[in-house]
Amino acid sequence: MEFKADTTGKAPTETRCMTKLACIVLAAGMGTRMKSGIPKVLHQAGGLSLLGHVLGAAGEVGVNHVVMVTGPGMEAVRSEAHAHFPQARIVEQTERLGTAHAVSMAQPVLQDFTGITVVLYGDVPLIRPETIRSVCAAAAGEAVRMAVLGFEARDPFGYGRLVTGDSGMLEAIREELDASPAERALRLCNSGVIAIENELLWQLIPEIGNDNAKGEYYLTDLVGLCRQSGHGATVTTCDEDEVLGVNDRRQLAEVERLCQVRYRQQALLAGVTMVAPETVFLSADTRIAEDVVIEPHVILGPGVSIGRGSIVRGFSHIENTEIGEGVSVGPFARCRPGARIGDKSRIGNFVEVKNATVEEGAKVNHLAYIGDARIGAAANVGAGTIICNYDGFNKNFTDIGNGAFIGSNSALVAPLKIGEGAYVGSGSVVTRDVKADALAVARGKQVERENWASRYRKANMARSTKKSGEK
Ligand code: UD1
Ligand code: CA
Repeated sequence: MEFKADTTGKAPTETRCMTKLACIVLAAGMGTRMKSGIPKVLHQAGGLSLLGHVLGAAGEVGVNHVVMVTGPGMEAVRSEAHAHFPQARIVEQTERLGTAHAVSMAQPVLQDFTGITVVLYGDVPLIRPETIRSVCAAAAGEAVRMAVLGFEARDPFGYGRLVTGDSGMLEAIREELDASPAERALRLCNSGVIAIENELLWQLIPEIGNDNAKGEYYLTDLVGLCRQSGHGATVTTCDEDEVLGVNDRRQLAEVERLCQVRYRQQALLAGVTMVAPETVFLSADTRIAEDVVIEPHVILGPGVSIGRGSIVRGFSHIENTEIGEGVSVGPFARCRPGARIGDKSRIGNFVEVKNATVEEGAKVNHLAYIGDARIGAAANVGAGTIICNYDGFNKNFTDIGNGAFIGSNSALVAPLKIGEGAYVGSGSVVTRDVKADALAVARGKQVERENWASRYRKANMARSTKKSGEK
């Protein structure tokens, strides 16, 4: 098969055959049980749409063609597909007449393709690339022309049952409603993933009828037809968790849970320390280097990378942020989209950073808002500093020079430039640029009245003694 170089880095061997792969993703379902205004396959798990998971796996396998079947008016699904697989072809199924009917929508696109075609479901997101590979390899194997991905169901109710013959070959798939009691007792079920020689697929599809309990065109009838025309069909299996489908929000939550288990395992095995991994939430695209420590109760949304030796302390929330090496973030830090936290810098407790670069060795240690800014290398931003980046109409930029020192409780009103090495006195409201190496103080001048306090106390005491005397 023409698969992508596998991640083990091993050179392709003679066992690799040159069959090409096409993939049909079924995503025409309305997802009514989601009770949602958005199409089911756009719901997310691990910060990635269900469709993104499926197309990501197909992409890793290195399929040559992707055809996605959507329902009418699903523009958002179309653009999500293109975001993950730019060459994906989208076809519409206007009437939902069954899985075989859905697959037949792809015929105009794949008619002349030579190779193996694999059917995936847009709402079965946890399928792994190696599993797709193995079912495709099985379909390309000797004496067979198709393969079905099966699994041992904890509760087989509702699934198509895989009926195997004495030789272990697959004979038929029987849907729940059409199955005999003996067939219903089978626990080996159809995941929905079917790989078949493309030519045979389009030869058999027109033969599929809808004379069954649901009155639908069942893709699963391919197996019986394949056997009747004298060709072999086989089964490969995977774990049930991998082929869990999402029909409602409970299943979505379960898929999210399984994603998190998978991502945490990957991070731990990649050299990340987490004392309570079950409290740390990662995303499909999270990248964490070796010797990073993540304390409990941290959420890493999409687009986060963390460099070697950094620590993210408890209760921090980070998304679309690049964190360098040897950085300390948190506890209770919030890094929002566009934050770039340079090597050896520190973002302390109750600090929010948005669309801002904190350069190497800079410190923003306590209670601050850094928005639309650059904090130069080794600068120090004192406690309670707020960058006033928004004037009600525009976001404005603040540039703080290398080595500058911003005194605590300052308000920096953007647009603003603080020169290299400059000082800003605590409590300043800075509205004009500050030259390099200068001191800017922008607050009420301190006045002092000697012995004022005792005079004040004496006067008040005299007044209150007089009042109580009058009673
Ligand atoms: C299907 C299989 C069943 C298998 C189960 C696994 C058939 C006949 N049955 O049953 O053997 O055990 O999946 O979950 O194939 N879809 C369309 N257009 C349609 C019909 C379906 O795009 O006209 C899509 C759905 O959006 C979904 C997928 O195909 O992603 C499966 O359809 P669904 O109705 O859920 O099939 P099941 O009855 O669950
Ligand atoms: Ca289903």
